[in-house]
Amino acid sequence: MDRTLVIIKPDAVERGLSGEIVARLERKGLHLVAAQLRTIDADTAAQHYAEHVGRPYYAALVDFITRGPSLVLVVAGVPEVWRVVRSLMGTTNPLEAAPGTIRGDFGLITRENLVHGSDSPEAAEREIALFFPAL
Ligand code: TYD
Ligand code: MG
Repeated sequence: MDRTLVIIKPDAVERGLSGEIVARLERKGLHLVAAQLRTIDADTAAQHYAEHVGRPYYAALVDFITRGPSLVLVVAGVPEVWRVVRSLMGTTNPLEAAPGTIRGDFGLITRENLVHGSDSPEAAEREIALFFPAL
């Protein structure tokens, strides 16, 4: 069964939007395979965002993702579920994200864009192994 990693990021948890975001995933027909509220540590953040090392926004990104609890999910329910999640999320910059998407409805700045979703099947399995090694 295809599955993907979703992170409801610290900004969304702080703003009380985690339930809204989980509800959107569930209403679409996806279901939760695993869920953990945790403050991501710097080492895990560095592994998760390894492809972004050297980018001008990298240090601020790691500071942000580690600043408080995130709700980390494994989601399933349809083939290529990662595509469905990315579609529900909207584009990276919330100012450009379509209304009706999570980022389009709730975000204003790229760094604090509420939600992460794996961007390929390979990324999904790598990220699930990082956050949920027992799965
Ligand atoms: P990226 O993987 O490009 O976006 P997405 O989350 O849509 O897959 O970037 C990872 C995160 O890095 C992104 O969610 C927010 C942050 N970021 C910035 O803060 N500034 C930027 O210019 C970019 C491209 C990303
Ligand atoms: Mg990405």
